[in-house]
Amino acid sequence: MTYDFDFFDVPLHRERGDSQKWTLFGPDVLPLWIADMDFRSCEEIVLALTRRAQEGCYGYARESRAAIAAMIAYHREHYGLEIDPDWVVPQPGVVTALNLFCRLLRETRAGRSDVFINEPVYHHFMSAAVQQGVRERRIGLRPFGPPLPTPPAPTAAGAGGWLLCNPQNPLGHLWDDAELRGILDFAAAGDLLVASDEIHGGLVLDPPHTYRPLLALARDDAERRRLMAFVAPSKTWNVPGLGCAFAIVPDPTLRAHFTRDYDNLIPCINLFGWVGAEAAYRFGEPWRLGLLAYLRRNRALLEEAARAWGLPLCRLQATYLGFLDCTALAPKLNGESPHDFFLRVAKVALNDGAVFGAPGWVRINIATQTATLRAALERMGNALATLR
Ligand SMILES: Cc1ncc(COP(=O)(O)O)c(C=O)c1O
Repeated sequence: MTYDFDFFDVPLHRERGDSQKWTLFGPDVLPLWIADMDFRSCEEIVLALTRRAQEGCYGYARESRAAIAAMIAYHREHYGLEIDPDWVVPQPGVVTALNLFCRLLRETRAGRSDVFINEPVYHHFMSAAVQQGVRERRIGLRPFGPPLPTPPAPTAAGAGGWLLCNPQNPLGHLWDDAELRGILDFAAAGDLLVASDEIHGGLVLDPPHTYRPLLALARDDAERRRLMAFVAPSKTWNVPGLGCAFAIVPDPTLRAHFTRDYDNLIPCINLFGWVGAEAAYRFGEPWRLGLLAYLRRNRALLEEAARAWGLPLCRLQATYLGFLDCTALAPKLNGESPHDFFLRVAKVALNDGAVFGAPGWVRINIATQTATLRAALERMGNALATLR
């Protein structure tokens, strides 16, 4: 199978199926919101799932050592990261792990359980903190230029952890070593635990750059033991519906908080999740490289449109989620949010930046057929023209 532009150009017609993205807003709306992609999966994943489905036996599956080994091998080969299999705690999703991290802070860091998060950020960072009863301390990120004020201005007093999004959703920022080191030094000085959500790690758009796993920066065992990372094949290979992720937690005591609720509160990984994860990590590289080339073409279209509209767009280094600053439109929108305006007038569904902590911004999912993206951008341009 060749994963070229022709492959990714074929539409899936998800509006006829069970897709959240394509069915929420009705047939006249082009959906560029929730973070999944409109591309056919990698053939090796389809074949592995089909073979497993045809066995006709769907009893409880045991943990797949093969899938865990494939994930570890992939991280070694692509990022030079050594992961001890004992550190790996399978999770039904990364959002579960975000919640378990916040709960861990609440339970183990009495009186100093506040969690630092960067803003804007994926909204489940905030909801995990709220749901687990820890207080968030938001550190605003500059959307253009180096995002983090260094050294971080706030004090660590009263705080127990930092929840990092690496690469950053929705800014599309790829943290570099110096930025990550700044966070680690701050964490060491304040005795903070740091959890790094690395679900978008395979989606760095400009190879040979790759993302830097936070764990790869640990200087020694003591530093490593305050860190953990959450990884998954779900965003990179577009298999979030299969529900399989991994918390990588080097410290055994902290790790116990991630395994405690297995078989009661937290369901075991779906057997198809294991199968899809193993196939993705073992055989998915040609598909991923084809995908990145296709996304680069779509990114260029979005950049061109943003320039034509005169609206600032964050540099999309990673992820397939463009972040567009529409705050300048406020005087013309009579109190309507840009999100609602584009939905009402352009019939294009985006994510409202307010959800991530950036009102007046919108997030645009470019992981769709180029023809669909082009049509959506044209609709948005026409809608903007009505404001002038
Ligand atoms: C940064 C980040 N973390 C986690 C998730 C969701 O993870 P999961 O579906 O595995 O719970 C997303 C989905 O968009 C995301 O962008």
